[in-house]
Amino acid sequence: MNSVLVEFEVLPSFRAPQGGCLTQEMLDAYDVAGVILLQDFVSVERCAALRTRALELVEQFDPAEVKSVFSTTEQTQLDDSYFIDSGDKIRFFLENDAFDEAGVLRQPKHMSLNKMGHAMHDLDPVFDAFSRTAELGEAAKRLGFGDPAIIQSMYIFKPPHIGGEVVCHQDSTYIYTEPESCVGFWFALEDATIENGCMYFIPGAHRLPLKQRNYRNADGTLTTETIDDTPWPEHLRLPAEAHTGTLVIFNGRAPHMSGPNRSEVSRHAYTLHAIDRQARYPAENWLQRSPELPLRGFQQ
Ligand code: FE2
Repeated sequence: MNSVLVEFEVLPSFRAPQGGCLTQEMLDAYDVAGVILLQDFVSVERCAALRTRALELVEQFDPAEVKSVFSTTEQTQLDDSYFIDSGDKIRFFLENDAFDEAGVLRQPKHMSLNKMGHAMHDLDPVFDAFSRTAELGEAAKRLGFGDPAIIQSMYIFKPPHIGGEVVCHQDSTYIYTEPESCVGFWFALEDATIENGCMYFIPGAHRLPLKQRNYRNADGTLTTETIDDTPWPEHLRLPAEAHTGTLVIFNGRAPHMSGPNRSEVSRHAYTLHAIDRQARYPAENWLQRSPELPLRGFQQ
């Protein structure tokens, strides 16, 4: 076994602390594992309200607009531009298997989406209110942020039957700062189980190197550079099964993945990524925002 890895039987999981005041025990577990689960961080009612709002936004989306973009699994420059310009917008990304051979959606629109991103937290009042609470601000402070800023939000649909697998990766590959400061805040809006494609983490593996970096090229395309091609010790991965309302906090270096959803039920989740404004944010990161939409932290 790699020397940095500690054997765990389950991922560290706690009842959410009052007011987001992460205890020393929680912070120690986060430090060792690179990930912690906080049960009941958000009420079931607030999760339901965010799901309702997401579905309202989906109603305004016309899949025909992006049909050509996603009619092939080959990445094209058009794919990249729809994605690469979405850092300060609300855009919709379909599952690879959304369309059948005849070009017709296999399932209803809301069951065909992979995700929505990447600035709901700044552009939509309901998402803004969910993303900026005293509890999250306090948690970020206790995690060591000097000046946190929410750089992106993603609504993950993981629809039944066609929800795609996500291969093992580190989020700092895409949200890179110097020094690295990316932290993920992932909220289960529905129960996430092994059957419907929950996340998995390799505890302790956030101490391994950053293995890849993603760059925005001058011509508007994206490149992922492999720095270290050592395979992940995926046999040490543990499932992050999570009830509705659970918050999973994970280090930007923490390798994680999720299985496909072949079940009958969706697995909606909402993710925020925070960076520290005291760190340098490179112009080569794919996600760039208009100066008209300045970064904000967890304060309303
Ligand atoms: Fe990720």
